[in-house]
Amino acid sequence: MSIRPRSLLATLVLASVAALVSGETATAQAVDTGIRPVALVTGSTDGLGRDVALRLGAAGYHVIVHGRNEERGRAVVEEIQSTEGSASLIIADFASLANVRQLAAKVLADYTRLDVLVNNAGIGRGPDGATREESQDGHELRFAVNYLSHFYLTRTLLPLLRESAPARIVSITSTAQNAIDFENVMLERGPYDGARAYGQSKLAQIMMTMDLAVELEGTGVTANAVHPAIYMATSMVLNRGGTPMATIDEGADPVMQVIMSPLAGSGNYWRQATNARAQAQAYDLEARRRLHELSLRLVGLN
Ligand SMILES: NC(=O)c1ccc[n+]([C@@H]2O[C@H](COP(=O)([O-])OP(=O)(O)OC[C@H]3O[C@@H](n4cnc5c(N)ncnc54)[C@H](OP(=O)(O)O)[C@@H]3O)[C@@H](O)[C@H]2O)c1
Repeated sequence: MSIRPRSLLATLVLASVAALVSGETATAQAVDTGIRPVALVTGSTDGLGRDVALRLGAAGYHVIVHGRNEERGRAVVEEIQSTEGSASLIIADFASLANVRQLAAKVLADYTRLDVLVNNAGIGRGPDGATREESQDGHELRFAVNYLSHFYLTRTLLPLLRESAPARIVSITSTAQNAIDFENVMLERGPYDGARAYGQSKLAQIMMTMDLAVELEGTGVTANAVHPAIYMATSMVLNRGGTPMATIDEGADPVMQVIMSPLAGSGNYWRQATNARAQAQAYDLEARRRLHELSLRLVGLN
């Protein structure tokens, strides 16, 4: 791929990236996104999120790339900029609510609009026999990284999304969905099962999506959850020795469709291109109320 000369916009964005990753605070100069719509893709230093970030960059969005790995994050930003796209990088570990708060504060301080939020960052079920781990806040790790961090981020960014309407919230879920036991949400009792932990975090994302759709009805902000593909060839699958059954591109296609198409509606669980039925608990309004209240309490928003 040929590298074109950097535009003034790209230069401005690059300067802002340097400020962001060097740890300067939100008082740094706001990122100049020009007339571009803005998309934040969590977990876009690798895998599916990286692919979606590149596609959004190519589609004319200013992309806020996020992850933990600065080197990979910079590479994604530079790849978007190399084709006259616009991007910036924010590093934040979603195993820490303090880090998520800093990310949200930086977005609110540095951007005047947010048109697309893709809640993608995630960890898989881990190796067979994986033992229970906790986030820095003492929450079961998969619930914390995959769901709670995105619950906090989405709620905190809602005012900006509303101001930017029409806007889209797209949460990356999975066909792996497990009902939440409200007596044992943090999986402290019984043998730990990484697959169950992953599955309950993914169902929680769908439950959040359905609640958001009701809350946001008539605002021009939609919320959908998408299962991209089974066993894409990403680090999540490869690192546990899994055999890929789909390419990353095959997973990114339905995600982009839900982001771009008004036909995606709101409050839907998309199993790739199919508007599908989620695990039964997603339709249990009392369970959704309990999860919402618990989540508000756990992230300190009540
Ligand atoms: N792979 C599949 O077949 C499949 C199937 C269904 C659903 N999904 C879902 O698709 C999404 C993306 O998964 P993937 O397969 O693309 O995985 P991946 O290649 O492992 O990428 C995961 C991304 O999430 C970020 N991330 C992980 N832990 C983080 C943390 N504690 N804080 C901040 N960022 C973190 C990673 O950032 P760093 O590398 O910078 O840490 C990376 O950018 C996930 O939500 C996953 O559940 C995947």
